[in-house]
Amino acid sequence: MNFGYANVFRCVIFIFCFGYVQNRRKIKSNNYVDFKDPNSDVYLNSLQLISKYGYTPEVQTVITRDGYLVNAYRIPNSGPPVLLVHGIGDSSDSWLVLGPSRSLAYQLSDLGYDVWIYNARGNKYSQGHIKNLRQKQYWNFTFEEMGTEDLPALIDHILLITSQKQLSYIGFSQGTTNFLIMCSMRPEYNEKIKTAILLAPVAWISNIKYPFIDILATNINLLQSFFNGIGVYDLFSDNVLINLYHAKVCQDGVRAHILCMLEFYISYGIKNIKNLYPEKLPVLASHIPAGVSTKTFIHYFQAYRSKRFQRFDYGSKTNQLVYTSPVPPTYNLSLVTAPLFVFNSDSDWFSTTVDVKNLINKLPNIVKYVNFNESLDFTHLEFVYGARVNSFVNDEIKKILDNRL
Ligand SMILES: *[C@@H]1O[C@H](CO)[C@@H](O)[C@H](O)[C@H]1NC(C)=O
Ligand SMILES: *[C@@H]1O[C@H](CO)[C@@H](O)[C@H](O)[C@H]1NC(C)=O
Ligand SMILES: *[C@@H]1O[C@H](CO)[C@@H](O)[C@H](O)[C@H]1NC(C)=O
Repeated sequence: MNFGYANVFRCVIFIFCFGYVQNRRKIKSNNYVDFKDPNSDVYLNSLQLISKYGYTPEVQTVITRDGYLVNAYRIPNSGPPVLLVHGIGDSSDSWLVLGPSRSLAYQLSDLGYDVWIYNARGNKYSQGHIKNLRQKQYWNFTFEEMGTEDLPALIDHILLITSQKQLSYIGFSQGTTNFLIMCSMRPEYNEKIKTAILLAPVAWISNIKYPFIDILATNINLLQSFFNGIGVYDLFSDNVLINLYHAKVCQDGVRAHILCMLEFYISYGIKNIKNLYPEKLPVLASHIPAGVSTKTFIHYFQAYRSKRFQRFDYGSKTNQLVYTSPVPPTYNLSLVTAPLFVFNSDSDWFSTTVDVKNLINKLPNIVKYVNFNESLDFTHLEFVYGARVNSFVNDEIKKILDNRL
């Protein structure tokens, strides 16, 4: 996860530093990226990345009950279906940008799995709606609708296309929030899940260590009316210039690398930038963020402040109308009966060990819980973007799917 102040920080840095970075290109760098090459990974979207590395992607679009067009990318294969679900403000890119040697999508495809990669409503790849809605209506969703609408529609579609009864689910961060809400609010989907692997789960988040969380959370009402007032309903949308800026400062060895390091530290708590696979850092940095509704962020801030994993809080009067209760109902996790594997790390600012332990106490069907200790310094983003992602995460996932763990 990544919050509002980080975006302000990004813009300021961007304005002041882009020119500087441009001028400093000559400084020795490891030059993993050739910016003149239009086929450099920095410029490629998910479909282009998949094709470039010799896989054949398909676009699969589902229409949700509430009319959103959700795009999933598929790398078809004859094996069992696996669904990959990204984190907040991210996209299918997260399972692809490290390339075949480190990104999970390719690795699962190599093993014969039928790989499906979700794109949440509102991100750069899933922007459609069957009606021509006003912005204010279109962006009126949080991580809840991704769980209650997008994922069930997509899962039904996958099971129909593949003639399977079940699939395996792999979610990171917000992708775990989506999953827990789906299984709680639409419990009939539990039986469609063979195994779910939750990486850095996010549900109860009152122990988040993000340094700006208190400032943001105590001002959520202000933030919300500010965004509504200026007609901003989405954040962190895909921006070519910012992407390019990120790609440039995140090259290993450039002098402006400090800007990349600072931003990743301030936004995600990464002290050692080398823990993100350095060779692909410009590529991953140019692919995040990918867009999300402001309401999604507000919903997370509410969860932090209320210390409850609960539905969106509209204020007691509207809550009464929407939920017939002045307080938003909590998500009932005893209904999440699908078999779960949970991974978390002590060094994660967002999915903290205290919160995760609280969560797993409420979940009835934990098959295995894996914790990475503090001395490993394994931070949030490393579950998908880490230099150590193969040994810590991907290899374990392969064993789980193969019934060896
Ligand atoms: C957003 O959704 C809520 C709950 O479904 C509803 O009460 C509200 O009127 C909606 N707002 C807009 C602007 O569509
Ligand atoms: C949660 O679901 C369980 C299982 O159906 C049920 O027994 C329990 O009463 C529910 N809790 C609440 C607060 O609704
Ligand atoms: C942390 O975990 C690693 C890997 O499992 C282990 O080698 C190390 O001894 C652990 N350190 C502590 C302080 O428990």
